Amino acid sequence: MQRRHERLLHFAVVGVLLVPLVGAAAGGLLDRLGANPVEQLTHVTGEWALRCLLLTLAVTPAKRLLGWPGLLRYRRSFGLLAYTYAVAHFSVYLVFDLGFDLGFLLEDVAERPYITVGFAAFLGMTPLAVTSTRSWQRRLGRRWQSLHRLSYVVGVLAIVHFWWLVKADELGPAVHAAALGLLLLARRLPARSGR
Ligand code: HEM
Repeated sequence: MQRRHERLLHFAVVGVLLVPLVGAAAGGLLDRLGANPVEQLTHVTGEWALRCLLLTLAVTPAKRLLGWPGLLRYRRSFGLLAYTYAVAHFSVYLVFDLGFDLGFLLEDVAERPYITVGFAAFLGMTPLAVTSTRSWQRRLGRRWQSLHRLSYVVGVLAIVHFWWLVKADELGPAVHAAALGLLLLARRLPARSGR
């Protein structure tokens, strides 16, 4: 019974985190995204990619604090959600901003520092998404954990990308940077035993 409740809760949490993506896609199809739909799609997908990434990094400290091992199954889901948003974010940019021109993409990556850093973050997320399965976890053994520490580097790159592109209001990147800083500190939390 307990397991069924846990599965339902997990399903509901993933469903809620998909609402912004489904909402943005529906808004795009129904032409309800305002004067600049591409900008709106880029913002929603970029922000949620970063939020889901931070949620992924929050799972291990939360598990240590609460002592609930069931939380670990959320880590993979949050990570895959972050990657889903990042793929959508990159696709919006590639298709609508660049007209699927890979030459423009290479130019942008080479010439615009915030795109270089965003692209590096996206590339860094790819092996993490591919190796997120249990079978890869078993196959890589201890190396899996070392590889997945890359998610902190991705977090830093994503925040630098965000910070670099904002023109005036730096609150958004500052809040996300503070959250990442706290999560890095929380890595030092001792594991709670007995539960
Ligand atoms: C292929 C790599 C990427 C490209 C080409 C890219 C491109 C862009 C562009 C063009 C914008 C909008 C700039 C503007 O409004 O002037 C943007 C915004 C943003 N991107 Fe990316 N990005 C990439 C990867 C990522 C990744 C991996 C993340 C997070 C994990 C991310 C998070 C964000 C955030 C948070 C914003 C700001 C959204 C807002 O203004 O509210 N990006 N990106």
